[in-house]
Amino acid sequence: MANAPVNNPILALSNEHRFILEQMAGIEAVLREPDPGAMAAHLTSIESAFMPFLIRHFRFEEELLFPAALEALPVGPTIKVVLQLTREHGDLERWARDLFAWARATEATDAQAETARRQEIKAFSDLIRSHSHREVTELFPKISSNPRCCQMIETALARGGGSL
Ligand SMILES: [Fe+2]
Ligand SMILES: [Fe+2]
Repeated sequence: MANAPVNNPILALSNEHRFILEQMAGIEAVLREPDPGAMAAHLTSIESAFMPFLIRHFRFEEELLFPAALEALPVGPTIKVVLQLTREHGDLERWARDLFAWARATEATDAQAETARRQEIKAFSDLIRSHSHREVTELFPKISSNPRCCQMIETALARGGGSL
């Protein structure tokens, strides 16, 4: 896709997923920390870069991309994948806020709680990875191959919609 226009919103969004995966590597590095205090400090150090990006990314998809896909491709498989992706946004956002809030508040955690947090971080990371993979492989190709859908997104962006 080296020759694709840089203002292509689908391509830009796909590129954002590369950044998300880089951020996931940072979150997964938290799991290599030896104790709850180090885990919490590591999480806190990446919150200010991660959360605003995640929220902006989700809102762009929910407010512009998903509605365009549903409008242009109103068939069962599209509806099903958009509903699932939207539900996962809510789950992931709540989960991330909870993890970062734990990190900011943590002073000492018992071993059982530490194990549970490690499992949550791993599950959070796995869900973001599978979520992003599904978008890039299942939804975005449908959108980018549908001229009407692309036109709707470009028109909305030209009106100032979206945040890319
Ligand atoms: Fe998403
Ligand atoms: Fe996404």
